[in-house]
Amino acid sequence: MTTLQQPSRGTATVLLLPLLAGGLAALALGVYGRAHTPTGFAVGPAGFSAALPMKAWLTTGAFVLAIVQVVSALSMWGRLGVEIPDGVHRWSGRLAFLLTIPVAFHCLYALGLQYDVPRVLAHSLLGCFFYGVFTAKMLALPKRDAPGWTLPVLGGLAFTALVGLWLTSSFWFFTVVGVKV
Ligand code: HEM
Repeated sequence: MTTLQQPSRGTATVLLLPLLAGGLAALALGVYGRAHTPTGFAVGPAGFSAALPMKAWLTTGAFVLAIVQVVSALSMWGRLGVEIPDGVHRWSGRLAFLLTIPVAFHCLYALGLQYDVPRVLAHSLLGCFFYGVFTAKMLALPKRDAPGWTLPVLGGLAFTALVGLWLTSSFWFFTVVGVKV
């Protein structure tokens, strides 16, 4: 297993395009979330009683995988003291991202970006921000000459956004509506 090399001293200019693309992705989701008329459409929540519990549990799955991401990233940077195979970080990230897709599709297509309740406004903005940061991180990943702080910062922001998304949706659902499938 490889431990990540000492971060390069490259300049931040190489991040311009990834950050621009990330910003545009977040903005596009926000504009779509506001511009289109919410459809109220709900997919057949396989095995769940309704769309909301399905979304709450899928988001919880993504949240748990994001924690695996952080722990495995600490191991990759040699900060954990135990060695976790690199594949764990890659696959937990891919699975976490995949779990958010049907949820965010329902949020954006059926509900749109709402701002009447502070929790829902925070949630909606975090949702757009999450995909923006994720886009920037994926585009910055291959840039070997990017500054050493790039992946920890973008990874940390993506994790923080997902924690905020979980708190403003699943945690709210489980504590207000109840822990149900
Ligand atoms: C991309 C932008 C997103 C927007 C605009 C958005 C918007 C919304 C809105 C308006 C609701 C209804 C809130 C309510 O009335 O209670 C909602 C619910 C929910 N969203 Fe999102 N969301 C987004 C992304 C996400 C993402 C990425 C996740 C998960 C990773 C997520 C998870 C949930 C869950 C679990 C619920 C149901 C619980 C609840 O009603 O609060 N959302 N979303």
